[in-house]
Amino acid sequence: MKVRRQEVSTCLRKYSGIFLFLAVSVSVFVLWNMDMLFKKKVKSSFIIPTFSSDPYMQHGFCTFQPLSPKEALEEDLILESIAWPETPPLPSPLSLEVTSDPVHSSFTILPRSAGGQWHVGDSLEVTIKMYDYQGRPKKSGGDVLFARLHNAALGAGVAGQVVDHLNGCYSAVFSLLWEGHAQVEVTLVHPSEAVTVLRRLTAEQPDRINFESLFRSSLVTETATCNVCLRPTQQPLCNYTNLHTGDPWFCYKPKKLSCDDRIDHSKGNFNQNLKTNEEMLFQDGVNMKVSIRASGPANVTVFQKNKDQPEVKSLKVKSGPSGYYYQHVWRALGGTTVHHFNTSSAISQCLEGRAVHLYGDSTIRQWFEHLIEALPDLKQFDLHSQDQAGPFLALDYAKNIMVTYRCHGPPIRFASVPTSELRYIANELDGIPGGPNTVIVIGIWSHFSTFPVEIYIRRLQRIRGAVMRLLARAPGTLVVIRAANPKALTLYETLTNSDWYSLQRDKVLRVVFEGLNVHLVDAWEMGLAHHLPHSLHPQPPIIKNMIDVLLSYICPELY
Ligand SMILES: *[C@@H]1O[C@H](CO)[C@@H](O)[C@H](O)[C@H]1NC(C)=O
Ligand SMILES: *[C@@H]1O[C@H](CO)[C@@H](O)[C@H](O)[C@H]1NC(C)=O
Ligand SMILES: *[C@@H]1O[C@H](CO)[C@@H](O)[C@H](O)[C@H]1NC(C)=O
Repeated sequence: MKVRRQEVSTCLRKYSGIFLFLAVSVSVFVLWNMDMLFKKKVKSSFIIPTFSSDPYMQHGFCTFQPLSPKEALEEDLILESIAWPETPPLPSPLSLEVTSDPVHSSFTILPRSAGGQWHVGDSLEVTIKMYDYQGRPKKSGGDVLFARLHNAALGAGVAGQVVDHLNGCYSAVFSLLWEGHAQVEVTLVHPSEAVTVLRRLTAEQPDRINFESLFRSSLVTETATCNVCLRPTQQPLCNYTNLHTGDPWFCYKPKKLSCDDRIDHSKGNFNQNLKTNEEMLFQDGVNMKVSIRASGPANVTVFQKNKDQPEVKSLKVKSGPSGYYYQHVWRALGGTTVHHFNTSSAISQCLEGRAVHLYGDSTIRQWFEHLIEALPDLKQFDLHSQDQAGPFLALDYAKNIMVTYRCHGPPIRFASVPTSELRYIANELDGIPGGPNTVIVIGIWSHFSTFPVEIYIRRLQRIRGAVMRLLARAPGTLVVIRAANPKALTLYETLTNSDWYSLQRDKVLRVVFEGLNVHLVDAWEMGLAHHLPHSLHPQPPIIKNMIDVLLSYICPELY
């Protein structure tokens, strides 16, 4: 016990990491606001007028579209703000011995600093100390950890904020939001050594998922490999860079057919190129998504808010949670009241007279499917579309409700999207008149994991530009952004879509849309705080909560 105390105190020395993070997020925010002021004066057009001197920057063999100096500065700040700590080089020969071991590692609930009982409104701090498989303390940071506080009987749960002290110690900070028991759960998602591998994959194999296009002209068909990261060869390229958005996309030119003969886009195969034994760093239940035990009690009892007692605020973190579950329903913090649209009539009353346009990946398609199921009078019109890619259209004539779904452009990993249906969200938004009866929902994150994050940043900057134009011409338009969410991890899922990749993209998404008149559905925290297992496609109770948040943004005063 004594030893543990000492470890806890050595754990608390390094705070520099958090302060750096705070400083960076503040400057991104200031920069963004300057940008808004600037844009009010200068009318923006489709194509960014000022290109940096190097028009098409090459990063390895990925093509990055050019940025204005302002966007380039923003990108630098974003990259700084999501910078992950350095992670250890892999031991050679590779073995688990010196890597982070969830079984030897443990967490400790810090005692309440003012003594006495915990109350609603306090924050609870937990110290996590990581050890390797030989039981030696880890000395560096970079492990991927999730933390959750919950009470199963109350259907309550909230995500914790994890702070890396860069010395093998981490803190998790929770807001105490309900009366009763609160149980801490800490999960090792990946040891830091696994992050070393994930990083290398992004640098060396951004094309590990490849894409294909079918080309056809009269009786001749050919397929070609396509990507935004296309390895240079002697073969000529077809350049499908979008003229409006500048989003780059290329295919190797087919041998017989011309670039104009491309008829579809689809996900190709996945080339797993791990080095010998590296799979050992990604073992489900061994060192991937494994709970870390408590070295003492794992729970506290929280009492009613006490007016006389000052609230205990521990370690300052970036921000508190955006909400929490109580009796299985999501309660948002920070101003939004989440109403419960439990019946089809409550939902259709809210949506009456509106058009809801959903854009993005399959996690946004789930919302379309949910609405179709929840509203018997909302009939899907058969457009003879592909099951995955859509587009989909549903109408309720009596209530004048229209709901549409369209997938985002390349690198969408769907089977066979016709080129005629391959659209960029920014361009779609430019074609929408908008207004108080229009709701735009955007969910784009999961298909960008394998690429350098700059490709995602640039995509979002283009979408943000279109959102700003839409809000300027039709200020009543409601724009809702769906965040990323944690998912179940197998080896394949990890190498293509690890939560570590999603976590960073999720941070980018928040920073890019910060300060705009758009609403966020915090799918990340809603997935993390819930008792159901993480899933790329969250289960219906979680989707129901997300839709309640969406509908509460649309109809804040229905009740
Ligand atoms: C591809 O096309 C875009 C838009 O026309 C152009 O700016 C870019 O230089 C082209 N890239 C290559 C590698 O040819
Ligand atoms: C709280 O933790 C203690 C000790 O670890 C355990 O015995 C008890 O069952 C827990 N209580 C709840 C409600 O989980
Ligand atoms: C809707 O259902 C939730 C969960 O079952 C319940 O807590 C809530 O009171 C219901 N709300 C309404 C308005 O019916």
